[in-house]
Amino acid sequence: MLDEWQSKLYDDKHYFVSNYGKGILELLEPLKGEKILDVGCGTGDLAVEISKSGAIEKGIDKSEDMIQTAQSKYPDLNFATVDILNMDYNEEFDAVFSNAALHWLQQPKEGLQKIYQSLGEDGRFVAEFGGKNNVMMIRNALHAAYSNLFSDSPPLKEPWYFPSIAEYTTLMEEVGFTVHYARYYSRPTPLEGTDGLANWILMFGEGMLQHLTKDEKRTLIENVEKSLKTTLYMDHQWIADYCRIQVIGKK
Ligand code: BEZ
Repeated sequence: MLDEWQSKLYDDKHYFVSNYGKGILELLEPLKGEKILDVGCGTGDLAVEISKSGAIEKGIDKSEDMIQTAQSKYPDLNFATVDILNMDYNEEFDAVFSNAALHWLQQPKEGLQKIYQSLGEDGRFVAEFGGKNNVMMIRNALHAAYSNLFSDSPPLKEPWYFPSIAEYTTLMEEVGFTVHYARYYSRPTPLEGTDGLANWILMFGEGMLQHLTKDEKRTLIENVEKSLKTTLYMDHQWIADYCRIQVIGKK
């Protein structure tokens, strides 16, 4: 039930995730006939872009619902429900691509090992995800509002991993990659509509807020909105303080 709601909200309100992913797609430079694995493909919008180059694309995501939506939107493409940590591909791919997914992985080194193992000789890994200080203002406001409202509860435990370039490229080297490119940049990201921040928190914060009732979530979100209104709300639109990392590693 929750999963179903998520893929709909993802496609309706968070399509910007795939739109912004087109930048990292340019770094992938997919070629006709190449076998490419899209890790954390969501509802498949970038997988289909990759396949337009003539590459043979496989998209995986750990959410069954995302994969069902991807498969029904793009029936000609190959999708599977697989968690990155359970990937068992052995030197099968020319490239592994990932957009806006790897910050959900709390065991980054294990994930990188799986990616490395899935690449053939000279294979490349091209990825973008949230970096150090990503959505820091939103996260700080959420923690502050939560501890004000629920002072007897333990602090919220974030489900995300936002490394610095130094930290992540070190892990890449430790698993065997040669790092060819790494970039860190701020990317203020408009969220759709006046309820954009609320939708963002409901979609991406669900994992850490699921113990709250609907009313508690609403009160928490209203408090976060109040505290961020003067800094992140402009011209009737919320702007999220995204910071990204882009990397290219070669085997
Ligand atoms: C991100 O794409 O940066 C992101 C998405 C969900 C939660 C946190 C960050």
